[in-house]
Amino acid sequence: MKTCRFGMWPVLPLNVHFKKPSDYKPFPLDEENLQIYSRARHAMYNACKALGWGKEDAILVPAYHHGSEIQALCDLDIQLKYYELTDKLEPNPEELDQLMTTNVRALYITHYLGFPQNAAFWRKWCDERNIMLIEDAAQAFLAERDGIPVGSHGDFSIYCLYKTYGLPDGGALVSKKPLKDNYAKAPSGVWPMVKRHINFVSEQRGEVAGLHLRFNDAMSVYKKVKNESNEKELQLGDPTTRASAMTMKLLPLLLDENTAAKRRENYRYMLSKLGELVPPPFNELPDGASPFAFPVKLNDAKEFLARLKKKGVIGQLFWLNPHPTLPKAEFPFSIELREGVMALPVHQDLSVKELDKIINAVKECLPVVQL
Ligand SMILES: Cc1ncc(COP(=O)(O)O)c(C=O)c1O
Repeated sequence: MKTCRFGMWPVLPLNVHFKKPSDYKPFPLDEENLQIYSRARHAMYNACKALGWGKEDAILVPAYHHGSEIQALCDLDIQLKYYELTDKLEPNPEELDQLMTTNVRALYITHYLGFPQNAAFWRKWCDERNIMLIEDAAQAFLAERDGIPVGSHGDFSIYCLYKTYGLPDGGALVSKKPLKDNYAKAPSGVWPMVKRHINFVSEQRGEVAGLHLRFNDAMSVYKKVKNESNEKELQLGDPTTRASAMTMKLLPLLLDENTAAKRRENYRYMLSKLGELVPPPFNELPDGASPFAFPVKLNDAKEFLARLKKKGVIGQLFWLNPHPTLPKAEFPFSIELREGVMALPVHQDLSVKELDKIINAVKECLPVVQL
């Protein structure tokens, strides 16, 4: 039997087009000051631009980041003041205080892998210093803490809707005060939709998964030949691009009150079988989390991922490369995370049988030494 392919990204079931729109409108989709761009980096760029921030202004930003959100700030010439994270992946208030200068406009916090930070604490911290709070909920749409949706405390917050549902794109921006939008064109989103459907079929059918894996391998060779580095992945693109027409059509068909609970259920199941590989703080699942992926930490991450891929499980190093502006030597903890933490699939459309396939594949690939 051919091996199916399981990726981190949520898939798009084929029957979605026949579903009825849902009445469920979770935060921030029910908010007045909502804008939906194609990507979350566009949301970040446009919010900072609307606030008039530029080269005289600074933001406290985490050393552990994706890179594209940082690039959006660089494109506006905003000064970056990097902070390291504690072992709970939280900012350290004392370190932040040392970084404070009169031109600091905001603290930027990231809700890693859909695990909520204590945003209420950071709200108060920012108010005491008269600066803004930015919540990066790119991986945390539908997550909440103490019953309050992630992103509610920020002066503005960003989300990747397509990381929770198999949408072509969708980077949402919500703000406490109205911000001028910067909308121009909207792509159709048809080709990314087809790719999400292919991901769905690859999870069910080994023959399609085989073709899919070979196609992706050929594409990476092509990209290498064209000398496309992963710096391209960080670029802003056209920030006036709003969410595609297909995303806006599919979103109400995909929204489901059970999504976060199903992700938690899958996560808990994976934790019960692979818990010893999971680094803190991800080894304990908070009530309101909406896990984006299942993290494992190993000493030879690249080798492990290559072996896993042969078994049809596509994991990803959780941000191997920081933004080039990060002085790496000053942030050893975030670099250690980048080199060792991998994200595995846990999305809501995976059944227990499929999770078992992923778990078995992980165990078979394991003779690498655990960190
Ligand atoms: C934490 C975080 N913030 C922002 C972004 C940027 O999102 P997008 O790729 O939609 O621009 C990402 C992307 O992965 C991310 O992980």
